[in-house]
Amino acid sequence: MLEKFDNYQLLSKIATGGMAEIYLAKHMNSPVNSMPIAIKKVLKQFSSNQTLVKMFLSEARIICNISHENIVRIYDFGKFENQYFIAMEYVFGQNLGSLMNKLQQRGSGMPLNLMIEIILGVLSGLDHAHNTKDKNGVFLNVVHLDMNPNNILISYDGKIKVVDFGIANVNYTKKLKGALTSIQGTYGYLSPEQCRESSVDRRSDIFSLGAIFYEMLANAPLFKHLDNDASILNAILNEKIRPIQEVVPGIDPRIAKIVMKALEKDPDRRYATAAEMKDALMSVYNSLEFDPNSETIQSFLKKMFPAHFIKMTKVLERAQTEYLMDELFKDIGDLEELDLKEKVRVKEVAIEKAKERERSKFRSALFISGCIAAVLIVSAFVAYLVLRSEIELENVAVFSTPPGAEIFINGEDTGKMTPATLQLEIGKNYIIEFRKDDFIGGMNFTPSEKSREVNMVLKKR
Ligand SMILES: Nc1ncnc2c1ncn2[C@@H]1O[C@H](COP(=O)(O)OP(=O)(O)OP(=O)(O)O)[C@@H](O)[C@H]1O
Ligand SMILES: [Mg+2]
Repeated sequence: MLEKFDNYQLLSKIATGGMAEIYLAKHMNSPVNSMPIAIKKVLKQFSSNQTLVKMFLSEARIICNISHENIVRIYDFGKFENQYFIAMEYVFGQNLGSLMNKLQQRGSGMPLNLMIEIILGVLSGLDHAHNTKDKNGVFLNVVHLDMNPNNILISYDGKIKVVDFGIANVNYTKKLKGALTSIQGTYGYLSPEQCRESSVDRRSDIFSLGAIFYEMLANAPLFKHLDNDASILNAILNEKIRPIQEVVPGIDPRIAKIVMKALEKDPDRRYATAAEMKDALMSVYNSLEFDPNSETIQSFLKKMFPAHFIKMTKVLERAQTEYLMDELFKDIGDLEELDLKEKVRVKEVAIEKAKERERSKFRSALFISGCIAAVLIVSAFVAYLVLRSEIELENVAVFSTPPGAEIFINGEDTGKMTPATLQLEIGKNYIIEFRKDDFIGGMNFTPSEKSREVNMVLKKR
């Protein structure tokens, strides 16, 4: 059986991050061929921290309303069995961190046009999120705060998506706490103002993205020479960043300028907005000449991760089949008593049936809506006829000796005690019972025009 979680069916675990587990999942009521989704289950130890939970919920509420092609869409969030979760768009691809690690191990970077396309995608997403306003038009000052390569997803069909806005602050707090207790982690993308724990705005994300871009161009982390978090934090705050031209000698000076401007320690000296940085980068990109037959993001990514691409394609297919099987076993139960050949045959037929059922669900949808209208009209008419029908309810007076007995009609408590008046149908047979302490009594009774009174002498049990 596949695990159920709130309104979702978890199909397969896809990753475990610092504070959450990510699952491939499906909404229980969605049709078979609909897109899978990703469920991020925040680890239980974070549920007990009220401050983090409040932050998580208030941010998720904001992010839920953000819709942009470069931001992973959040569909739903909440708490199930004491565990906070986010249901979001599933990105069939890789995170930029894995791609960069692979390239760094190989010692060969990515083609420049692809690097720029990725950064441009991230900047579009960031700019959109940074400009989020509430329904009254009030600017919300949304900042990601955890811009690192793992939170940039690239799909095998070439799309760039920023993820984890929803719990950005939680991660940030976790990182700082980690830093204070000197637990290892990745701090190389925090801005100086984040390290200082002073107030931050959108320019903090620009610094972090600058660190990512620097690393892509250099094919090595910005603070690769430092081996512990304390020295990285110190370097972010106090050390001059080595100019990218020294690390990548042949670099286009305009690109070098853009990266170094994003990495200014003083936020006032950086790009004021992601849109500003995007414009600067776009104009360089447009002026560069790239081979029209050069690699695309999708072909590059698939070439870098052929095994993952094939494996995940299979996982998605298998998940689909398992989902179908699960749906099916709800109906046909256990196959234990059959022999192997028979089981295989039954399963094949059953999968086909389940698929057909899903297909017919769609076909039925239109038909059903038409029917609903017709049924409503017919039911209204029937209700009218029923009201007008022959049924006549008459008042029947019910007495008992002794009085004060509870009255049961056809086994059901009427809630009344003798003497009482009941509304009964003329011509219909009723079993009337009486109960009072040790006294009981019962009779069959059919009300008629002449007989509208019941008087029962109760007997001791
Ligand atoms: N919506 C998604 N679709 C597909 N894969 C995802 C999705 N969200 C996250 N992932 C994958 O799961 C991994 C783990 O995510 P998670 O956010 O828990 O940790 P992280 O991104 O590595 O670190 P951080 O705690 O800084 O966010 C991601 O790096 C990414 O590869
Ligand atoms: Mg993440």
